[in-house]
Amino acid sequence: MRKIKVNLGERSYDIIIGSGILSKVGSYIASLNMGSHAYVITNKLISKKYAHLVCKSLEKNGISCKINNIKGNEGSKSLSVAGKVLNDLTRYGVGKKIFIVALGGGVVGDLAGFVASFYKRGVAYVQIPTTLLAQVDSSIGGKTAIDLPQAKNIIGSFYQPKLVFADTAVLKTLPKRQLQNGLAEVIKYAAIKDKALFLYLLKNYAKALSYNSAVLNFIIYRCAKIKAQIVSKDEKETKGLRTILNFGHTIGHAIEAAGKYKKYSHGQAVALGMIVAADISRRLALLKDGQYSELCSLIKKTGLPAKAKGVSFNNIMRLYLHDKKFIGSKNRFVLLKSIGNALVLSDIPPGIINSSIKQIF
Ligand SMILES: NC(=O)c1ccc[n+]([C@@H]2O[C@H](COP(=O)([O-])OP(=O)(O)OC[C@H]3O[C@@H](n4cnc5c(N)ncnc54)[C@H](O)[C@@H]3O)[C@@H](O)[C@H]2O)c1
Ligand SMILES: [Zn+2]
Repeated sequence: MRKIKVNLGERSYDIIIGSGILSKVGSYIASLNMGSHAYVITNKLISKKYAHLVCKSLEKNGISCKINNIKGNEGSKSLSVAGKVLNDLTRYGVGKKIFIVALGGGVVGDLAGFVASFYKRGVAYVQIPTTLLAQVDSSIGGKTAIDLPQAKNIIGSFYQPKLVFADTAVLKTLPKRQLQNGLAEVIKYAAIKDKALFLYLLKNYAKALSYNSAVLNFIIYRCAKIKAQIVSKDEKETKGLRTILNFGHTIGHAIEAAGKYKKYSHGQAVALGMIVAADISRRLALLKDGQYSELCSLIKKTGLPAKAKGVSFNNIMRLYLHDKKFIGSKNRFVLLKSIGNALVLSDIPPGIINSSIKQIF
């Protein structure tokens, strides 16, 4: 079992990472004195597999456990589901000191964090991430969110959990597509901040894809550490440091939207976005051709796409420009100086962006 600290003064918390540790979560939670009633937000599928372990462990430590299964898809990150959960919490919570437990992937985590930040003007919550993406990314850093039909993650808050408890053994039941989804974010961390991790991935990608426990533990620890360090320095993305976590996401978001959130998963779209951003870096003479090729090769080996199919170039351009208008008139990209070394640049010549997007067709 390994521990990483997110250093945020009085909002500091630990990330615990280990394999087969779910049955120990109760004692960790009890030591935080958040209350005697846990309200566990999860979904049916995850609940069936893992909620009994969590609840048994909580009850052993004198904490009661109430489970609310929400639907297991992005549609649950909505005002209406948040409203229903808040209503249920209010009914259940009369006279109780409640805290919230998010048991699931990023959807459950984002919604549970959102609800925790608003119920009684904020109650404590714990993240128990069960997808690779959630273990390396969404459970850490306190970004909570729900979607509106007009835009993803458009309503939310910065609200830090009291604990992130990642049992890597639960990834064994994760579908391959979801594992690859998370690996896209892992490649992102390596590309922006950790060359040694990049080399490790080039050597061990096949083991990661076959759910090798030692490899996944290593990867998750390294990525969680990077996220914890960045969040500790720039909690609310006001200093520009947290921005580098968006590597591959500018064009990635446009690709996801162009495929109507069905054609490409988030990780697949980010993989294509990373290729575009690395290609821009190469055209600006920041990144060497060889390193660009290594990144493309790792993406392909992981089973992530290097070419966009079933979405049009024009649509991606249109959605990217719309997004840019939303954020501000200047374009801004996270680029690479080398593998493991990112920078943020604005005002990139539109011709270069155009050519780099064409590369993925
Ligand atoms: N808050 C943040 O900083 C942040 C960062 C990145 C992404 N996100 C958000 O995260 C969400 C995506 O999260 P995700 O990729 O984890 O997807 P997800 O939460 O939709 O989970 C994917 C699927 O895997 C299933 N699942 C989860 N754990 C499982 C397990 N152990 N075994 C079997 N099946 C399991 C779920 O039921 C679901 O069907 C998006 O809404 C995105 O906006 C948030
Ligand atoms: Zn992402």
